[in-house]
Formats: sequence, structure tokens, C-alpha cells
Amino acid sequence: MTRTPVLAAAGLGTSLYVHVPFCVVKCGYCDFNSYVVDDRAVHDRFLDALAVELGRRWRGDAPVSVFLGGGTPSLLDPGRLRRLFALLGEHVDLAGCPEVTMEANPESLTHEKACIARDGGVNRLSMGVQSFHAHHLRFLDRAHSADRAEAAFAEARRAGFDNVSIDLMFGIPGETAAEWRADLARALALQPDHLSCYNLTFEPGTRLHRDLQRGEVAPNEQELDRDMFLGTRALLAAAGFEAYEVSNFAGRGGPCRHNDHYWLQGDYTGIGPGASSHRAGVRSTNLKAVEAWAEALLAGLPGAASAETLRPAQRASEALWLGIRRTDGVDLDRIGERLSLPVAAMFDAVVAEHQQAGWVERAGSRLRLTGEGLLLADRVGSDYLAIGVRS
Ligand SMILES: C[S@@+](CC[C@H](N)C(=O)[O-])C[C@H]1O[C@@H](n2cnc3c(N)ncnc32)[C@H](O)[C@@H]1O
Ligand code: SF4
Repeated sequence: MTRTPVLAAAGLGTSLYVHVPFCVVKCGYCDFNSYVVDDRAVHDRFLDALAVELGRRWRGDAPVSVFLGGGTPSLLDPGRLRRLFALLGEHVDLAGCPEVTMEANPESLTHEKACIARDGGVNRLSMGVQSFHAHHLRFLDRAHSADRAEAAFAEARRAGFDNVSIDLMFGIPGETAAEWRADLARALALQPDHLSCYNLTFEPGTRLHRDLQRGEVAPNEQELDRDMFLGTRALLAAAGFEAYEVSNFAGRGGPCRHNDHYWLQGDYTGIGPGASSHRAGVRSTNLKAVEAWAEALLAGLPGAASAETLRPAQRASEALWLGIRRTDGVDLDRIGERLSLPVAAMFDAVVAEHQQAGWVERAGSRLRLTGEGLLLADRVGSDYLAIGVRS
């Protein structure tokens, strides 16, 4: 029996996302909205604007989850981190929220900062470790060593965190299956409460993608990626972790509620530069650049750059695109009822093709990826997304 709570697709409540866009280095593979800025005046301006945006946008509801992500929230110095939690606390009951996650990087998480986060209401830390091999960390431009990652993990425990997740990446060019197995073993030795294991992707616009185009790096053989992916699932299952999504494994800490909320199409409010929000079928996205976003908010203007009302067909497509990645899959009838659309009929042809190929399986109105389909989750999801664009 699965331990993953299957939340009702409707009436999920609202989550809050807070984007902290600063990093110590810009990692070569990363296309997230993050910048190397160590000018404290910019950090202050960011916090000033965040206070304005939160006051304007958060409607005093109790969030079902809060996620402080980035970027690198743990990069803020202790005083500014305290201010971040003080301003959040003015509008949001963090102590009463079931899950408040903060992303933390090994190079900047200290015991003092972990305590500030804990006292501020964070009850879950997500630590970006990525690899325990020095040459891979160098290749990825990471600002920390493997030893520092272990020390930061210990700091988190010492500060009282009983729910700590670790992010790892596999498929780093030149990486061997033995190295990846060693990374998993070293992560498991820390006894994390949740693990995210991502297959490295070459995102357009990144240094890694440019290196690929110039022929300076090459991706590993597909067969090796496949072995690493399947090996991860087997090894983590044996260690008692439940694969509740393509890249996510729940240990004692259970699944990440915040991500589950996204995958189930719950409403969320995103604050901070580039953050997007979704409320009752309307999606808006904030100005991306820190200065432009802060300037707008501090001048009394909206921080959002765009807003679109999603057509019901688009919402259905996105529900399948996001939901199919979960181990439970999606319930076509439930999505149909929620959106008042004949969803099963809309996707009938493409689902039949995927069934024929052995990528998905159906049990009544529930559709989920097969073992083979898990390896092609991006491809399957993008086929569903395309239906919404066409209809
Ligand atoms: C945007 S990062 C933020 C977390 C934190 N700043 C860090 O560096 O660990 C969230 C996670 O996404 C994953 N990630 C980012 N870019 C990726 C890529 N191109 N391929 C695979 N995983 C990626 C990494 O595992 C990372 O920990
Ligand atoms: S992976 Fe994390 S630390 Fe690296 S640039 Fe992206 S957000 Fe910053």
C-alpha cells in the first residue's frame, strides 16, 4: 500500500512560494532565475520589495505549504535571514503550516542560519548536494566540497531538523555507474528523510548547453542513464524509500507536499522575481530581473510581467503533463469533473498510442506510467501538453 497521501484534486487550498534569487556561483547546468549578487544593498532592496509584494498578494489564508526556494535562500546573512522570516511572519502563520521547506546549499548553511530558519518556522530543509565526487562538483561549478555537504547536513540535524531532503544529480558527463552508486550510498549513510535524484539535463541558455554545442562535452550513453535511473529506484526501494514521482523518493519525511500540490494543480501564490502564481485558472508571472521587479513593487506598481487565463483544455493538458509523473498517475474522470470537460475522450487517441507503445497503463479512469514509460516521462508528458495547445 502506498504511503503517499492522494490529495483531492479540488479544494486543495493555496501554497506559497518565495523566490530568493541569489547564489554564490551560477552553476553551469542551471537555468533557474538566479544571479551571483553579494551586494548587501541589493539583498536589502529585495527584502523591501518582498515585504510589499507579500502584503499585497497574500490574502491571509493559511497556506497548505510554503516553499522558500531559489536561488539560494541560505546565502542571506543571519540578520537578513531573520528579517525574511519576520516579514513572512507578519502575513503568514508559518508555525501553523504543515510543511515549510527552505532550500539550503552546503557552502552557506551554518548552524546559526539553520537555527534562524527553524525558529522562523521552517520544518523541512532541502539540501542541494548534487554529488559527493570532487571532480563532478568541479564540473558542475558547485561552491562546496563533499565534506562540507556532510557537515552542513549535520548542522541541520543539530539545529533540530527532523525532515531533511537531499538533492542529487546523475548522468554527469563522464560519470560511471559505480560513482553514482557510491553517491547514493554516501547520501543514504546520512539518513535523509527524502531524496530527489535528477537526471542532469542540458538546458538551453546554460554554460553546459553551450559546451555541448561546441562539442566540448558530450552526454553519457543513453543506456548508462537508463541503468542509473533504474538502479536508483531499486537501490532506494531496498533502503525503504518510496518512489512517489519520477525523481522523488519519500523516506521517513514522506513526500514533499509542496511539489505534490503543484503536480495536482493546486493554487499557489509565488512572490519574488520571476515567480509564477496560479489561482482559479489564471496564471501570472513576475518580472524576472531582480532590479526591475523590486523597482516596480517599490514604486507601487505590480511585480507581475504577464497574466493569462488558461483555457479549460490547457488546464486539462497541464493536469496530465504534471500528474502523470506521480506514481499514482492521474484520474481522468476526476480531472474531467473538476474542469467540466470530457477529458478521457480528449486524450483517447494519444493515450491509446502510449498504451500501444507500452508507456502507460489504464485501470478504469486512472492512467499511470509503466516501468518503461517512467524512462520517457518527459516525452509522454509533452504529448499531453501538446493536446491543450491544439484544442
Ligand atoms: C534550482 S536548484 C535550487 C537548489 C539549490 N540552489 C542548489 O543548488 O542545490 C533545485 C534543484 O534542481 C536540480 N537541477 C537544477 N538544474 C538541473 C538540471 N539542468 N538538470 C537536472 N537537475 C537540475 C538540482 O538538483 C537542484 O538541487
Ligand atoms: S543550482 Fe542552485 S546554486 Fe546553482 S545556480 Fe542554480 S540555484 Fe544557484
